Amino acid sequence: MYHWLKIYDSFEALENNVLADKTEVLVLKGERVCIAKGKGAFYAVQEKCPHNGASLQQGFCTGEGEIVCPVHRYKFDLKTGKATAGGSFALKTYPLEIRENGVFVGIKVKWWEM
Ligand code: FES
Repeated sequence: MYHWLKIYDSFEALENNVLADKTEVLVLKGERVCIAKGKGAFYAVQEKCPHNGASLQQGFCTGEGEIVCPVHRYKFDLKTGKATAGGSFALKTYPLEIRENGVFVGIKVKWWEM
């Protein structure tokens, strides 16, 4: 079950704030979420690198739809969260939806937290 949070009022706002070389970090329900653009699509993944905790906000995205950690250069697939280089780590991924009334990210919650 997801709690959907509006992160931008429009697709244009998303495009203006999240560029291929500039990610955005938002705190949603206490979770630090990195919004990134890869291969022409937008994704939401955990902000903290699972290898050693670096902020992926300082990293960059590749043309292959990956985000690269700035510290040890491990790469993660933005869609699946799985490491594509550097080990068997994985990022937590969040669904991101572009709707008529804005851009939303889903944060998993227990039914009693709704
Ligand atoms: S801290 Fe990110 S790859 Fe090591």
